[in-house]
Amino acid sequence: MHSIDKPSFLRRVFALLFALASFACAACSTLPKETDASTAPKPADTASASETLPRFDLASRTVKLNSGHSMPLIGLGTWTMTDEQAEECVYHALKIGVRLIDTARYYQCEVGVGRGVKRAIAEGFVTREEVFITTKIQPSDMARPSEAIDDSLAALDCDHIDLMLIHEPGSNDEQVYRAMEAAVRAGKLRSIGISNYNTIEALDEVLSYAEIPPAVIQIENHIYNQNRELKQFAEKHGIVINSYYPFGGRGNTQELFNNELILELAEKYGRSSAQIILRWHLQAGYVAVPGSKNPDHISENYSVFDFELTYDEMQRILRLDEQRRFANW
Ligand SMILES: NC(=O)c1ccc[n+]([C@@H]2O[C@H](COP(=O)([O-])OP(=O)(O)OC[C@H]3O[C@@H](n4cnc5c(N)ncnc54)[C@H](OP(=O)(O)O)[C@@H]3O)[C@@H](O)[C@H]2O)c1
Repeated sequence: MHSIDKPSFLRRVFALLFALASFACAACSTLPKETDASTAPKPADTASASETLPRFDLASRTVKLNSGHSMPLIGLGTWTMTDEQAEECVYHALKIGVRLIDTARYYQCEVGVGRGVKRAIAEGFVTREEVFITTKIQPSDMARPSEAIDDSLAALDCDHIDLMLIHEPGSNDEQVYRAMEAAVRAGKLRSIGISNYNTIEALDEVLSYAEIPPAVIQIENHIYNQNRELKQFAEKHGIVINSYYPFGGRGNTQELFNNELILELAEKYGRSSAQIILRWHLQAGYVAVPGSKNPDHISENYSVFDFELTYDEMQRILRLDEQRRFANW
């Protein structure tokens, strides 16, 4: 019988262990460096990335922001509305349960938004604390950010704004961001963020100077432009992605609504294409602010909490991503 040579057997065992250890080290070096100082979560340096992930709670229909405040998951966008339309649409939206209203100084309908909110409060079906108002510092106000914040407070006729965003990158973003941070400390703003900062680099630059990290980044986001890498990076910092153009924006909605897969799912669930798309935003972890001047559409867009797309269906929608934007700014 063949006897075992003990020293050579031990040598082979050690060689095997050494090879396994080398392989493990090589594998580790290709993992994302979650503890790297440049990508480490800012809100609490000791927290792991998963602890900072924004948590979508479909039961309460809100997500807890890194500012500590909760943001509703589906809102009403007010781009292209007049003051009169904004007042009516906001009032209707609040009446049927919507709690997030997205506006901007640039849209010139903050006054109407404020009136709609006040009417709803006066009629007693909602309180100011339950309504979440987002507005934005417009490009032409970048040289006077503190005044712009006060202008929005006056136009909306309220004592605080729930979320103020820099509408788009400009030349003195850091000073504008500092003014928003000061307004948070003064109790005028509850959460702050940025919009149209479409790349990881652009967001990372804001993070490099932010003392209060952005809570939200609002970008063009829909089934054809899913911003997955930016979302992953944002989530590491506890930042929520807020989709504008959830239907692709005016002039493009039919392309999304008539997508073959969206139509197939609409048929399966007995829902409209708009509802399938909004349900996808929710389950994929995006806050969405569909714009509509039609009360029936506003109600339809909020009726997306009582059905669920399967994992497989979510994966199929994921594959529609073409990183295609419709906006040209
Ligand atoms: N940060 C930024 O730079 C930025 C840029 C653009 C937009 N936004 C914000 O994002 C919001 C959403 O974007 P958006 O309004 O431009 O585009 P959108 O929400 O993608 O699409 C709006 C279009 O969809 C239609 N629509 C809405 N619900 C529908 C439904 N259930 N069935 C059929 N059609 C429906 C609307 O028509 P009806 O009125 O007839 O319903 C409107 O024509 C804006 O309102 C604004 O608040 C921000």
